[in-house]
Amino acid sequence: MGQDIFIKILRYNPNNSQIGHNETFRIEANNNSTILEGLLQVYEKYDSTLAFSYGCRVKNCGLCAVNVDGKPHYACVTRIRDGMQISPLENLPVIKDLVFERRIFSKYLENFKPYVVREREPEALPEIINQPDEHTQLMSCRECFACMSSCPKYDYRQDHFGGPLAFVKLAQLHYDVRDSIDRVKQVKEMGILNCSGCSRCTCISGIPINKIVIKPFLDLLTAM
Ligand code: SF4
Ligand code: SF4
Ligand code: FES
Repeated sequence: MGQDIFIKILRYNPNNSQIGHNETFRIEANNNSTILEGLLQVYEKYDSTLAFSYGCRVKNCGLCAVNVDGKPHYACVTRIRDGMQISPLENLPVIKDLVFERRIFSKYLENFKPYVVREREPEALPEIINQPDEHTQLMSCRECFACMSSCPKYDYRQDHFGGPLAFVKLAQLHYDVRDSIDRVKQVKEMGILNCSGCSRCTCISGIPINKIVIKPFLDLLTAM
């Protein structure tokens, strides 16, 4: 049996207002109910104009990340509790309520060929590829943008600093044995030198961004 709990959701529509406001909803939940289930209940029972995004429901697509009591979480796998405050990821361009614009970042990243560029075709097919451990770890990035929301230097209105997700995307390629582009030069163009002295990258999928992305790139650049 579920019990009634109350959650607060930050509502914001930039077309109607400059600032958001909290709305409280009573929903039914049990010990295993997730935040995403709570949002779906609000949408179905009370307000079908609530904007939020999700896809896989199993921590795979990265679409459902929201701030919960001020910290980023995947809504689809985080248990919902009475009194929780749910808001959009910070520091990102909100379209409405919990949904933010991702295309600005995609357009920025396109300038850096964010895909494998090979020098040579494979010698034989099927090709056997042995990727380093760092590559495997980095491929668990779900592009949820949580790290971008906690970066003190990222500003989506400017493109002098790519931000942690951009560095992660280029690090995937840097470690990829098939790729031939100088990704170190690219992260320098993205402004990674601004990361010196900062180690605040936080990944909600558990990728050690500082250890396998920021620090190795900075070490390579200072050794040049
Ligand atoms: S090290 Fe700091 S400034 Fe650099 S990407 Fe991570 S959080 Fe942002
Ligand atoms: S590095 Fe982690 S926090 Fe950043 S987008 Fe990828 S999965 Fe999300
Ligand atoms: S819905 Fe896909 S990660 Fe949560």
